[in-house]
Amino acid sequence: MSSVEAMFITLEGIDGAGKSSHVSFITHYLREHGVGVVATREPGGTPLGETLRNIVLNEKMHADTEALLVFASRREHLAEVIEPALARGEWVVCDRFTDSTYAYQCGGRGLGPSRVAPLEHFVHGHRQPDLTLLFDTPVAIARERLDRATPNPDKFEREQGEFFARVRQAYLERAAQYPERIVIVDASQPMQMIRERLHDHLNGLLAKARRGR
Ligand code: TYD
Repeated sequence: MSSVEAMFITLEGIDGAGKSSHVSFITHYLREHGVGVVATREPGGTPLGETLRNIVLNEKMHADTEALLVFASRREHLAEVIEPALARGEWVVCDRFTDSTYAYQCGGRGLGPSRVAPLEHFVHGHRQPDLTLLFDTPVAIARERLDRATPNPDKFEREQGEFFARVRQAYLERAAQYPERIVIVDASQPMQMIRERLHDHLNGLLAKARRGR
């Protein structure tokens, strides 16, 4: 496939929803369809971003500071990785983006969305994901997965169920607010069914890219 428009895909969900395990599947599927792909993550994705990630995930700090640091990482990521890849015609598959800030810092920590919106506008007002896959699962299932699979939990993974219930709720509200962009994938289904849903969404996006949107 030669002339397809580059697309920006983000993956979202509460810790333990199994989101990260789908990145390589999605990347592989797109490559099989002739698309060049850059897989990356937030916070992180650049050397400076990974340093900021280490701080955000491990140091106790004010919710405002958390928001400022994830947006600092995001600014660098957009400048160094995301925008150059899209300009080259490569697709970008990003594990978390700004919906995470609305979910974790606003939903989880209680920061007003009116604090985050100007940062979003400053950092990437002109750039939004073309498709966001929201891996949704009940908090109890995610907690059980985390407890089983995370021997050294970070600051967020050590949070209680109520925190993740607020994060999940904020995600679902984002999905209701942006139904054209955010699709909910039921992450408590068997893997095979999740992958079929992913195929459907990716095929839809590939068709849109071929049409030039
Ligand atoms: P995560 O993506 O779950 O990585 P891993 O699977 O390696 O644990 O972890 C990143 C954490 O960062 C996650 O708990 C949510 C948090 N986070 C925010 O609080 N705000 C943000 O804007 C972003 C991008 C992440």
